[in-house]
Amino acid sequence: MVVKVYKDAAAIGAAAGMVFASQVITKPDSVLGLATGSTPIPTYKFMIKAYEDGIVDYSKVTTFNLDEYVGLGHEHDQSYYYFMHDNLFNYINVPEESINVLSGTAADPDKECAEYEARIDAAGGIDLQILGIGRNGHIAFNEPADDFADKTHKVALTESTIEANKRFFASADDVPRYAVSMGIGSIMRAKKIILIATGADKADAIYALVKGGVTPQCPASILRMHSDVTIFCDEAAYSKCK
Ligand code: GLP
Repeated sequence: MVVKVYKDAAAIGAAAGMVFASQVITKPDSVLGLATGSTPIPTYKFMIKAYEDGIVDYSKVTTFNLDEYVGLGHEHDQSYYYFMHDNLFNYINVPEESINVLSGTAADPDKECAEYEARIDAAGGIDLQILGIGRNGHIAFNEPADDFADKTHKVALTESTIEANKRFFASADDVPRYAVSMGIGSIMRAKKIILIATGADKADAIYALVKGGVTPQCPASILRMHSDVTIFCDEAAYSKCK
């Protein structure tokens, strides 16, 4: 695992954005694993600029998003489908039919998860996966648990995550209690992974990831077992590791 420390979120956006640009330039039909949250927004801005400047063409790319809230449809402005269109897809030329986001309104979430996992396999697996990290060390919506979940599955969100994400909703009561999420195994099967973290409220999670042992109580810690992972942190997120 390589850890790189940058001055601020904008510098991380440029660095992570460059990884995506190189990936798509060298393999135009790349399968990209994408994340939501505030942390990847500067990365997505860089990816949009690379498209606008004619440097990167996303027309042959396929994307898979990590997760979605159960109960929120595409039109809900806090759904991850909406977020991804609002922050990336509406501004680049990836075809809509090449975009994969788990449905939060599927009648049978277990079937939806199994089909999603099969779609990732059918696409040949993920070439490059970007991850944020939760304050409690979660990746996607894989919360601290007694075991690492392998495949895409339905999860109950923890109080810590509901608390962290309530800022996007009218109140904590409006935050969905469940999500569908790629599993730890689905993420670990990506060929290359980058994890980005900014701000002091990620310092404990980054300390557990960088200095702690591999444990499902810090789901991100499994990344230490992957052969091609780079962590991009700003100084605040890295502060406890010094
Ligand atoms: C959500 C997402 C995660 C994301 C996390 C951190 O819980 N499911 O994929 O990493 O938020 O979000 P932020 O980047 O806003 O701190």
